[in-house]
Amino acid sequence: MDGAKYIGGKGVCVIVVAAGSGRRFGAPLPKQYCDMDGRPVLMVALERIKTVWPEAEVLLVINDDYRGLWLEMCGRHDFESPRMVSGGDTRWQSVRNALDVMPRGVDVVAVHDAARPMFTPEVGSGLIDAICAGKQGAIPVVLMVDSLRRVDGDGGSKSVDRAEFRAVQTPQLFRADLLVEAYSRPYSSVMTDDASVMEAAGYMDIALTEGDEALMKITRPHDIEIVRMLAKEM
Ligand code: CTP
Ligand code: MG
Repeated sequence: MDGAKYIGGKGVCVIVVAAGSGRRFGAPLPKQYCDMDGRPVLMVALERIKTVWPEAEVLLVINDDYRGLWLEMCGRHDFESPRMVSGGDTRWQSVRNALDVMPRGVDVVAVHDAARPMFTPEVGSGLIDAICAGKQGAIPVVLMVDSLRRVDGDGGSKSVDRAEFRAVQTPQLFRADLLVEAYSRPYSSVMTDDASVMEAAGYMDIALTEGDEALMKITRPHDIEIVRMLAKEM
């Protein structure tokens, strides 16, 4: 054992990806550095990980241009940053950079979006239970609320049955050996999360566990207001 800490008898490493630029959010700073409750979103996300899985080893993937700002924020809030890893141009590359420097002794890797600050103990337990039951991976999902349509390239569309779909959140948990192998394969643009990388490598035994509306991803400008409100209720 070298670095990884145990949860449910397994060495767990949490990779928090925070190296995006927040183009759709459209603020001067990437969304993870914006204020949530007097502290930046990223700090809230890391604190909740620490609350739910206090034993886990955390790797923080960050854009080098914002390292100074982040350390300054940590100093101001008396917050100890996890070990930092340089981000890449895509989420896939950011995860890959963290996997490359992961400590030894890790059985299970969780990958979490910094832009989803409201992780809960209930979601965490569902994920750990599925992995301990022998699944290759476990991902939190929620039901779709809107009606859905499949669009074609010619402006046409057709309604689809929303009961057949789920929206996928993070953290996503995987057996470390399988995730490392899946990430050793080439990137494709359909790999928008880690479960899709596992699937492309043929690892399909992924449990869908219960997600939480509050675990929504801050993507567009108003999302941060919604997450602030949900946080007050928790
Ligand atoms: N992310 C990352 N490295 C990248 C791109 C994204 O670590 N090169 C992280 C983001 O910081 C975020 C998570 O992956 O926590 C989910 O990505 P997304 O919500 O798409 O964030 P951004 O890429 O920052 O936003 P946008 O796509 O609107 O630019
Ligand atoms: Mg993005």
